Amino acid sequence: MAEGAGVTVHRTIGTPGLRHLDPFLMLDHFGSDDPDQYIAGFPDHPHRGFITLTYMLDGHMLHQDSMGNKGDLNAGGIQWMKAASGVIHSEMPQQSEGLMRGFQLWINLPATEKMSDPGYQEFSAASIPVAERDDTRVRVISGAYEDHTGPIDDPNTDVRYLDVTLSSGAEFTYELPTSMTAFIYAYQGHGQVAGEPVPTHALARLSEGERFAITANDELRFILVAGKPIGEPIAQYGPFVMTSREEIEQAFSDYHDGSLVRTKAAWVSD
Ligand code: CO
Repeated sequence: MAEGAGVTVHRTIGTPGLRHLDPFLMLDHFGSDDPDQYIAGFPDHPHRGFITLTYMLDGHMLHQDSMGNKGDLNAGGIQWMKAASGVIHSEMPQQSEGLMRGFQLWINLPATEKMSDPGYQEFSAASIPVAERDDTRVRVISGAYEDHTGPIDDPNTDVRYLDVTLSSGAEFTYELPTSMTAFIYAYQGHGQVAGEPVPTHALARLSEGERFAITANDELRFILVAGKPIGEPIAQYGPFVMTSREEIEQAFSDYHDGSLVRTKAAWVSD
């Protein structure tokens, strides 16, 4: 998300230094807190071969696809869009009271799913369970945390996605699943892991199968994301992520002759 005067985008996964973090292909954290800034948004563009997971923290995002689906993702809401064989859509983030902030994560699909039918899961803030204690607040977007399970079902890579807010001095611990790629991304405040400061607006990889513990120095907010690696070749060209160059060429040719979108996406929402 590079457009828009003064809108900041922090891209971590999907940069020359970190092309992929299997099964994750891209992570963008975007935001603006100045009402005079705007984001031009993303008019119609295609995707094939993967999933986009969009989480709005502040503001909202109008979206629409070439198959007639239309929605407005509000603050705290989440959208899982399985592009699979092909979706053409627009995404237009909007400010509310001058604020607009969120994340977009791209999750790869295994080769057997890349040309399957597209689908959407979309849930508003009210449908996302919250595990709350005096000094800790965990929004459970996908996967299980304590006795809560998030509404997003990601069957291929079993993605876990938590949004954690800690008060100053609070500690958060999490048993990391084995055979999963996991990371945190701190987007507000400061914290430490094993005495080392956690950088803000940066990604920190976590070791699988370990107990992860983080302490907040001030009010700290971060996302914790984990998913099963796919372990297949990745051929990527912009919005198309397949396993071979031939499949990328096919995607371009389908897009140009108007056959990228094969079927209308099924919707699941609250
Ligand atoms: Co898109």
